[in-house]
Amino acid sequence: MSTINKRIPPLKNSSYNLSDYKKIREGFSWNDIGKDFIQKNGKVNAAYETIDRHVEEGYGDKIALHYVNGDEKQTYTFKEVKEKTDHYAQVLKNHGVKKGDRVFVFLPKTPDCYVSILAIIKIGAIAGPLFEAFMQEAVKDRINDCEGTVLITDKEMVNRVPQDEIPSLETILFVEDIESLPVKAVNGDVVEWVDVEDGLIIHYTSGSTGKPKGVLHAHRAVVHHYISGKWVLDIKDDDVYWCTSHPGWVTGSVYGLFAPWLNRATIVIQGGRFKAEDWYQLIDELNVTIWYSAPTAFRMLLNQEELLEKYDLSSLRHVLSVGEPLNPEVIYWAWNKLGVRIHDTWWMTETGGHLIVNFPSEEIKPGSMGRAFPGITVGILDEEGKELPRGSIGQLAIRTPWPGLMKEIWGNKEKFANYFKYEGWYLSGDLAIQDEEDYVFFQSRNDDMINSSGERIGPFEVESKLIEHPAVREAGVVGKPDPIQGEIVKAFITLRTGYVESKELLEEIRTFVKSNLAAHAAPKEIEILDELPKTKISGKILRRELKEREIEIIKVK
Ligand code: WTA
Repeated sequence: MSTINKRIPPLKNSSYNLSDYKKIREGFSWNDIGKDFIQKNGKVNAAYETIDRHVEEGYGDKIALHYVNGDEKQTYTFKEVKEKTDHYAQVLKNHGVKKGDRVFVFLPKTPDCYVSILAIIKIGAIAGPLFEAFMQEAVKDRINDCEGTVLITDKEMVNRVPQDEIPSLETILFVEDIESLPVKAVNGDVVEWVDVEDGLIIHYTSGSTGKPKGVLHAHRAVVHHYISGKWVLDIKDDDVYWCTSHPGWVTGSVYGLFAPWLNRATIVIQGGRFKAEDWYQLIDELNVTIWYSAPTAFRMLLNQEELLEKYDLSSLRHVLSVGEPLNPEVIYWAWNKLGVRIHDTWWMTETGGHLIVNFPSEEIKPGSMGRAFPGITVGILDEEGKELPRGSIGQLAIRTPWPGLMKEIWGNKEKFANYFKYEGWYLSGDLAIQDEEDYVFFQSRNDDMINSSGERIGPFEVESKLIEHPAVREAGVVGKPDPIQGEIVKAFITLRTGYVESKELLEEIRTFVKSNLAAHAAPKEIEILDELPKTKISGKILRRELKEREIEIIKVK
């Protein structure tokens, strides 16, 4: 455990939205916070709370977003976002979209992507945002699973949508056209007032077995989004907030869209992939004050330290990290070189919001993910579901319920029930230690899920794709430790008779996965074995043994 590391105190002379963790924790009630979001008729709408409310309260002219993509720059006020969202919402209504319908969004990180998600939610439908780098198979599996009826995309990305294989899909709307589509007036308000338990957003995520599962969240999550945005992101009215994640991932929707806008922040949307220089330049030019990113990105920046001479990052006042273990070295680097603390946060697609965090007003123990959010209780459980004493490694679990907790796994009661096999607890699948002062230290996953650059990758999905290649007989896929990406995807395969190992063949197999599934899931390394290790009785591939081989090799080196 890393408790021997030097602690980092809170910054002096600063005031924070949450100033005293212990006190707030004692008096905390989710209901008190939730009251604000319920309309007189007992109904709610998360999209209304995210944007419209601010316009009604007189903040229509405040800047809601800065969009930057290379030389392209756009700025929208809250009023403009509201009007655009209303228009999209009406177009959807005119196309017959109803409450509860699943409407997918397949777009790059642009204002249109954010507006589409909000428009869907505004009319009571369920938004299904897809990561922009998905290829045909990944797109198809997700829309088919929950029978999406409408897709909002653009004329380029539609090439990665295999329409013939998605029978439920009735309508495809192109963002190039939506703006100019006439709308029949909708009687009254376009907002559909829904129950707190009604569906909000569905995010597909990977586990260690099977295809990705559809994690469905309810409108009640808005309470969790709002209060964690206020206390953990520490948003104030003059902040410029940038979350680097795409809304196809849960961080990109909850902390890229809902939480900051519920707190009326000016957000930054940056198009394009990671490039250290562009990122530094963006912080400098837009005077970003709050920045939420992932350890892989911080490690890449750390390796290009010379850029720090070129750009002024002094606007940054609050920096946060999520998705994978944050090494103490990175925290010390940021502290010494940038003068900022990096605040690690822990949560999952399924949890809908932050559960274990470092608050800006509290001490950081580098190596720890922080302490439980107010209203959240952590348990470290043994195999029988009993709580272990402080300092022991066990299964990281959280006392149920809380507002952000998922509502269901789409169409799969059994998978949903697996998370709740110990009564009164949500089981995360992570292993962790909690110390005497309540700080939680991540140890590892308790299953075969791969975490590469903070992105969840299910080995089964990659293995299934690999064995569709004619040369591949069997495949076992694991996460191999990597200093920058945390883990990389490594595949072990056996070849069918008639095929011989060659560099070209391996590259062809790699490209096969990359162009059918998704680039981030394609194995970076492929190794051919004569045989894969298997269990004696059922003949199942032993991924753990393959992973141990990789860890052993690294240790020897
Ligand atoms: C891992 C992302 C270490 C963990 C919001 C979890 C982390 C999974 C951290 C969820 C962290 C997330 N330190 N590991 N601070 N945050 N993880 O659903 O294994 O994409 O179970 O949610 O990422 O990934 P997901």
